[in-house]
Amino acid sequence: MSLAVRFHDQHVAESRTAFRDAVIAGLRARPRALSPKFFYDRRGSLLFERICRQPEYYLTRTEERILVGAADEIAALAGPESLLVELGSGASRKVRLLLEALRPRRYLGIDISREFLLESTRRLAADYPWLEVHAAWADFSRRLALPEGIAGRRAVAFFPGSSIGNFEPAEAEAFLARLRRMLSPGSGVLIGVDLVKARRVLEAAYNDAAGVTAAFNRNLLVRMRRELGAEVEATAFDHLAFYNAAASRIEMHLVSRHRQAICLAGERFPLAAGERLHTENSCKYSVAGFQALARRAGYAPAAVWTDPQGLFSMHYLATP
Ligand code: TRP
Repeated sequence: MSLAVRFHDQHVAESRTAFRDAVIAGLRARPRALSPKFFYDRRGSLLFERICRQPEYYLTRTEERILVGAADEIAALAGPESLLVELGSGASRKVRLLLEALRPRRYLGIDISREFLLESTRRLAADYPWLEVHAAWADFSRRLALPEGIAGRRAVAFFPGSSIGNFEPAEAEAFLARLRRMLSPGSGVLIGVDLVKARRVLEAAYNDAAGVTAAFNRNLLVRMRRELGAEVEATAFDHLAFYNAAASRIEMHLVSRHRQAICLAGERFPLAAGERLHTENSCKYSVAGFQALARRAGYAPAAVWTDPQGLFSMHYLATP
């Protein structure tokens, strides 16, 4: 039936200028910061897939186990013949754990990494010939809309990987409220949320011994150099990730190893030794804390599943 993937181009034509402008704004800011969505070029998406397989990175395998165990209950909540929308679909691997139980009519993968999105959704279409597969190349943090022709249907929005934690809580709430307005009544959001836990476990997950997270973090600099012609050495920065307990978040930074300057688009950004570029936050929640946030965003929390150790949570939020 569906051998071809229906492709929807929802922006990113202007992606290089958007990247350059965001980098310049971030380097001018104090403290200096770079937006995490720019991690995900093709190399970054592949590195992220490797992070997910590191022994210290408990999030992926825990979430996958929860999904396998909850698939039938999720299917009962979602109802048959739904539209399954995956935000930041990446390798479209986790969704495979749901497809047989859920039997949706359509799948829409949304991702910022174009080639990666196409490769992944093509494989999905080949493996599930009964499924109508759509791919939207989009930056969902900026624009959130269902492509024409598939809007207005009862949907399940699948947002795994605790990517919601990469927004600040206030932004997460605003984002979820925007997502709710995109969904028709009777839809749901199936969202993976990492839980607050011992510092040691959290910090290990973002400092894997193989150095994959460090390479992923530095990939931002590699991209700046390759795509924007920035003068910057990735090896002149150290990877730093630590738990900020007061803010319930992992913070990730790139730390300048010595005094240096990044040159970009005719501008020179001097960095002191030890000066940090803040690249990512990964906010951690309690189950009750996340449900309260979801209620403020206009949802009715309908179900939540966790693993026996309470490492990770999967929530089903109903739209009223
Ligand atoms: N959503 C993932 C998380 O917060 C993203 C992530 C994992 C990540 N490891 C990372 C982002 C390292 C940047 C760098 O866990």
